[in-house]
Amino acid sequence: MTERTLVLVKPDGVERKLIGEVLARIERKGLDLVAIELRTVDRELAAQHYAEHDGKPFFESLLEFITSGPVLAAVAEGPRAIAAWRQVAGGTDPVEKAAPGSIRGDFGLEVQYNLVHGSDSPESAAREIKLWFPNL
Ligand code: TYD
Ligand code: MG
Repeated sequence: MTERTLVLVKPDGVERKLIGEVLARIERKGLDLVAIELRTVDRELAAQHYAEHDGKPFFESLLEFITSGPVLAAVAEGPRAIAAWRQVAGGTDPVEKAAPGSIRGDFGLEVQYNLVHGSDSPESAAREIKLWFPNL
């Protein structure tokens, strides 16, 4: 069953020059990249992307962070792509949850600066891909 998932390299990952590292790991896993774009995110897109977190204590700083610099947005495709990309990315907290060998586990230290985003369900993936790549 082929799925698509949204991939983001957040501003910290771009700043730290980890785009190549992230894309290499996605390709090494066997997923196909079907769209890719470097872009700056405005507050409106950021708020829509993270709508599920509206009202939480970290929401404002999350929006400030995600709009602070260029982001690499991509769509990856393959069997179980949503879970596969979450596995490659690692758990949300780079120290407490992300396993060594995952992107967050290998390169992350703080929850906010966890380098990458991946859709968490088929519904989220459909919504996020439409938001970031409306013409796909
Ligand atoms: P979430 O969707 O829970 O994590 P994930 O990115 O693994 O799907 O949260 C979205 C982002 O919000 C998360 O990547 C980092 C940030 N965040 C915080 O800054 N503090 C927090 O306590 C949480 C839960 C998330
Ligand atoms: Mg999430």
